[in-house]
Amino acid sequence: MTFTPTPATDDDWWRSAVVYQVYVRSFADANGDGIGDLRGIRQRLPYLRDLGVDALWLTPFYTSPQVDAGYDVADYRDVDPLFGNLADFDEMITDAHGLGLRIIVDLVPNHTSDAHPWFTAALAAGPGSPERERYLFADGRGEHGELPPNDWESIFGGPAWTRVADGQWYLHLFDPAQPDLNWRHPEVRAEFEDVLRFWLDRGVDGFRIDVAHGMIKAEGLPDVGFSSMTTGQRQSEMLGKARLPYFDQDEVHDIYRAWRPILDSYPGGRMAVAEAWAETPQRLARYIGPDELHQAFSFDFLDATWSADSFRKVIDTALAEATVVGAPTTWVLSNHDRQRHVTRYGDGEAGLRRARAAALLMLALPGCAYLYQGEELGLPEVLDLPDELRQDPSFRRTGESRDGCRVPIPWSGELAPYGFGPAGSESSWLPAPTTWRSLSVAAQTGVPGSTLELYRTALRIRHEHPALAGLGDITWLETEPGVLAFRRAVGNAELTCVVNISGADVTITGHGRPLVASADLTERGDGHVLPVDAAAWFERR
Ligand code: GLC
Repeated sequence: MTFTPTPATDDDWWRSAVVYQVYVRSFADANGDGIGDLRGIRQRLPYLRDLGVDALWLTPFYTSPQVDAGYDVADYRDVDPLFGNLADFDEMITDAHGLGLRIIVDLVPNHTSDAHPWFTAALAAGPGSPERERYLFADGRGEHGELPPNDWESIFGGPAWTRVADGQWYLHLFDPAQPDLNWRHPEVRAEFEDVLRFWLDRGVDGFRIDVAHGMIKAEGLPDVGFSSMTTGQRQSEMLGKARLPYFDQDEVHDIYRAWRPILDSYPGGRMAVAEAWAETPQRLARYIGPDELHQAFSFDFLDATWSADSFRKVIDTALAEATVVGAPTTWVLSNHDRQRHVTRYGDGEAGLRRARAAALLMLALPGCAYLYQGEELGLPEVLDLPDELRQDPSFRRTGESRDGCRVPIPWSGELAPYGFGPAGSESSWLPAPTTWRSLSVAAQTGVPGSTLELYRTALRIRHEHPALAGLGDITWLETEPGVLAFRRAVGNAELTCVVNISGADVTITGHGRPLVASADLTERGDGHVLPVDAAAWFERR
């Protein structure tokens, strides 16, 4: 398997970067209100520099009623008072750049908040008005328009349509408080091009595009043809498997072809990464390229099961696609929407062991890696949050909630919220479990073998090792079943990553000296025993 090497210049920083996702409300709370904020991030920037990441992706901090934790934006050009103000943002980005950290912000173009002035104007103006044209309002079906205009379902459960007082319905692919914009409307396009410039002028290095596959809906808003009501299968279960009339429509690419020249007109390699779901890796790859976006998250890696075959298959497919489009793969194990991978891989000690091995696997692969805050601490999903504390809007509609991966970061101390807020603050918007005392940053810093030190070591090697410097080839090596082994090489320098998913200890020989391992290696003969569910990097120069 070869991956066309392209030298990473300063403008190409994103090709091999490690990006750390900051879930703003849960990262660090400077003002003591129990919710993370921009000043909190600013105070913790040295931690992120020392961790060894290259960039931060900040989840939405814009003015918002916070129905969907900020993914319901009421003003795209301002900071919500919960998180600070524009001056805080400017100070934070100046400090970040001073420390060599780039900043990617989240852009939410598919929908606004229902508190956005455009939506309140649309409600007030009534059916047929130009104000309604910016959204997707339609008359209902049935004798009196009492049925939704089509069978589309919200990703958060229930119909994707809500009826307003005058009888019309509006589309919301997510919560009713997140009305979908009409991206066939020129004003919508002009507005977002201006929003891009607003943040680019403030110095952001890139954008994470929320629901990047969703902005264009099929003409005529045709039925999907099945729904939870008719088949018991939710339409959202088809995400990434079949084309739905509200996702991955060809015309969505026109939007990105208009955005790319804007990004390119700024110096320093401003980039965009799509959160996109498409039917096939080939269709996902269409979002990437010199005239569209720079990256699209490869969620297949996150979805891979804990097996060598599963990982090998998704890695091969992702690298092959990356070669076709000439852009790097983006590897992700966790984010704010998905159960943390410690828990996905079995939870408890076994889950943590595997998560640590997965980190070494991911960080040895060529391309860009996205870390989700707290994975460097080995945080598990919090599974036992009381229902009344859960805030994810999808919880009320589907019974499923993403709150368990959003619990605030434990920084230090003996008691929750473990230094999340200033000294003396006693609470955080979601409570951290008592077991997190030993997982805090302070508890793990400088402790050999801790997950935090494992990440630090791996990130340092990733930056410094000549074999990882290229954007790279990987060569799979012959191994026994259940063991993944691949090599990266530049000149005489070789780094081999071995992951043992075979269910039994394996002896590794012939790859040189161990550099880092997710569990203790023991010497045996002229090799090393790699325990089960562990990974290690070996080098030869
Ligand atoms: C994306 C976000 C998710 C949000 C949704 C609606 O999938 O990652 O958190 O709820 O879009 O904006």
